[in-house]
Amino acid sequence: MKGLCVLQLLLSCSVSYQDPGVYRKADRNQVYTPGTHYLLNPIHGVIHSARGANVTLPCIMRRRPRSYRVKWSKVNPADPLENLILISNGQRHKNYDKLKGRARLRRSHRLDASLIITDVSLEDEGRYKCELVNGLDDQSLTLSLELEGVVFPYQSREGRYRFNYIEAHQVCEEQDGRLATYAQLYQAWTDGLDWCNAGWLHEGSVHYPVIAPREQCGGDLPPGIRSYGPKDKLKDRYDTFCFTSALKGRVYFVNGPMNYSEASNACQAGKAEVAKVGHLYAAWKFSGLDHCDGGWLSDGSVRFPITEPRERCGGLPDPGVRSFGFRDQEERLYGVYCYAPT
Ligand SMILES: *[C@@H]1O[C@H](CO)[C@@H](O)[C@H](O)[C@H]1NC(C)=O
Ligand SMILES: *[C@@H]1O[C@H](CO)[C@@H](O)[C@H](O)[C@H]1NC(C)=O
Repeated sequence: MKGLCVLQLLLSCSVSYQDPGVYRKADRNQVYTPGTHYLLNPIHGVIHSARGANVTLPCIMRRRPRSYRVKWSKVNPADPLENLILISNGQRHKNYDKLKGRARLRRSHRLDASLIITDVSLEDEGRYKCELVNGLDDQSLTLSLELEGVVFPYQSREGRYRFNYIEAHQVCEEQDGRLATYAQLYQAWTDGLDWCNAGWLHEGSVHYPVIAPREQCGGDLPPGIRSYGPKDKLKDRYDTFCFTSALKGRVYFVNGPMNYSEASNACQAGKAEVAKVGHLYAAWKFSGLDHCDGGWLSDGSVRFPITEPRERCGGLPDPGVRSFGFRDQEERLYGVYCYAPT
């Protein structure tokens, strides 16, 4: 094997001595013009990860330009400013604030310009650009980072359609989530989310997902994502769709009956806090939490997670997080779901 390589190297060394790829026949007579073919096309354009994980965004050079820098940035179509993550020049590299010290070059071999992001957060989702800057003919490739997660609708304690866009953004963060994107809602719809109240999405548009068409949910239209189009972010009020990903902790149930302040004490006694809505959805989706008793959550709602639907546990045909809605904090009827971070 080694001999073969040496032979081929001799035959083709003028063209491909810098080329790390397998020396295939087709490559042998290919003439590289300066500045082209420096980056290998990624095999997968979408990289999947989850909150809390470490992820590698691959960017591999076919060969090294004589002098170059690697520049990684986050691409946001809605934001014309460049979100620089890091820029490297040989040994020296400068880290920018965007990922707060969680991003570095992998450098596992001399042609590796891949980016490692540690402790992935919900905000890290999006498109990333790897650029090879060599002054002549800069090259780049883009990759999308998508997080595994779950979308949950959220409504105000005051009732239906009370949030403007800014508030929708806030309440999702308060529930350990982030305003869902259209792509995330679409994925949730294919996973079975059917919800007849319109909610804000990250893009600033308003939608709702319907699987079983019915009169009050857009009538005879086929199943799909119903659209209200773009809305006034300050004046228009709807519910919201939040997105969360894997838990960085554990959710557990404590038996009641308790009122809200007793519930809060019960969690504190276990060095935990009353779970947020996002915590419960993440535990249901990622840890298969299934419990047939309503429990307090931090926002004052009472819910329970069902992964194996049965008659006496809310009865509905599909798995889901069931809700008793917001309850009076003096009511002494429920247990509590606690969240213990790790
Ligand atoms: C991520 O990488 C860091 C070191 O860079 C390590 O300490 C940590 O355990 C890793 N996390 C996971 C989830 O693998
Ligand atoms: C909850 O119950 C405790 C103990 O039974 C009681 O002291 C407290 O006043 C109650 N709190 C509310 C808000 O009802």
